[in-house]
Amino acid sequence: MANTILVGAQWGDEGKGKIIDVLTEQADVVVRTQGGNNAGHTVFIGPKKYVLHLIPSGILRKKKTCVIGNGVVVDPIGLVSEIEGLRKIGVKVNGNLFVSETAHVVFPYHRELDAQREVLKGKNKIGTTKRGIGPAYGDKAARVGLRMIDLINAERFEQKLAAKVKENNEVLKAFGAKPLSFKEVHKTYRAAGDYLKPFVANTVTLLHQAVRRGDDILFEGAQGTFLDIDHGTYPYVTSSNTTSGGACTGSGVAPNRMDRVVGVLKAYTTRVGEGPLPTENAEVADMLHAMGREFGATTGRARRCGWFDSVATRHATMVNGIDDLAVTNIDGLDTVETIKVCIGYRDGKKKYDYMPNDVEVLGRCEPVYAEFPGWRTPTDKARSWKQLPPKCREYLKAIAELTEAKLFIASVGPAREQTIFV
Ligand code: IMP
Ligand code: MG
Repeated sequence: MANTILVGAQWGDEGKGKIIDVLTEQADVVVRTQGGNNAGHTVFIGPKKYVLHLIPSGILRKKKTCVIGNGVVVDPIGLVSEIEGLRKIGVKVNGNLFVSETAHVVFPYHRELDAQREVLKGKNKIGTTKRGIGPAYGDKAARVGLRMIDLINAERFEQKLAAKVKENNEVLKAFGAKPLSFKEVHKTYRAAGDYLKPFVANTVTLLHQAVRRGDDILFEGAQGTFLDIDHGTYPYVTSSNTTSGGACTGSGVAPNRMDRVVGVLKAYTTRVGEGPLPTENAEVADMLHAMGREFGATTGRARRCGWFDSVATRHATMVNGIDDLAVTNIDGLDTVETIKVCIGYRDGKKKYDYMPNDVEVLGRCEPVYAEFPGWRTPTDKARSWKQLPPKCREYLKAIAELTEAKLFIASVGPAREQTIFV
């Protein structure tokens, strides 16, 4: 499989969890490199549903090394409960999970500030997951954050935390929010620190040993291209680099050690949270929600939905260097009579064949559509490219061509066996 970076080519929730699980079969090591427990990766194994937030989905397969890299922000309480949850259902988490010493820690004041800032923004809110992700990365960039290595060092942690709680309580008071009890935060975090100590490691040297051995490494992206802090629809983004470059900085594995980039995208478009979504369409949303689809894995929120946007996905190919495409949720379009695909934007008289950077302009853009006849046949039982309806194959070929990357996987349902290698 070689070293593969997997990224979301839209606004997140492209079905990465499932594709990662499928590709993990051939991987030795699976690495998360950015984001935190704002992510929700859903994996179905038989009838069982697993939702992972921080731990790489590779944990569900035997003999895979899972790494939470330095670029991730770790909520230790969340991580402990995720490990406990997996152990309860018989998944081995022992000697197969490593957390970077230099990954930053998410604290309750980050979560509280996340919520308070959203309130302050009012109608301009971002629609965050309220997991404290933005404030935690903010502290990292401001060089005032605490890292896993601090969390597991009792003495140092106490000192640093005391100063942080004191400072953040002043900020919380200014927001009119309740200050935190140092004692309480310290107690719960120290307990989590002790629990997590055996998992904390120098993951950069660990990954380099894997590279030297010739192991196959899968870099598991979270969120999606247009939620990237640099390349997304700023400020309606998350606070990390969700694009392929983030896999290098977030793991310490250099770009010339990477072999391939896989972009995961839905056969249509969804977004959860605020910000522009040019192809948003109420009928598409109603149809998908009525099917019981498109509710967030982390927050349960109904996702916004629309037609496939090839202007966006082509942009994703550009900024990520996508080689291969995994198209998911194809079965979501099984009943549609005429399928639309956005091939350009129009803002008044001005036409765009790329994504304008100004979110106000993007917000005003009207999509220009091409139409495709729907296949109106269930695809969920298809197990090969040939078994897909001809109109479905035409559609998939067209969106891959417009995206300027190679069609690699067609996914017709959440199960492992509903994966067609093209
Ligand atoms: P945050 O990452 O919680 O700060 O949220 C910022 C934006 O990213 C919001 O629009 C969220 O809905 C979105 N977001 C964060 N994580 C995910 C994810 O895993 N899937 C989809 N959207 C996400
Ligand atoms: Mg998700």
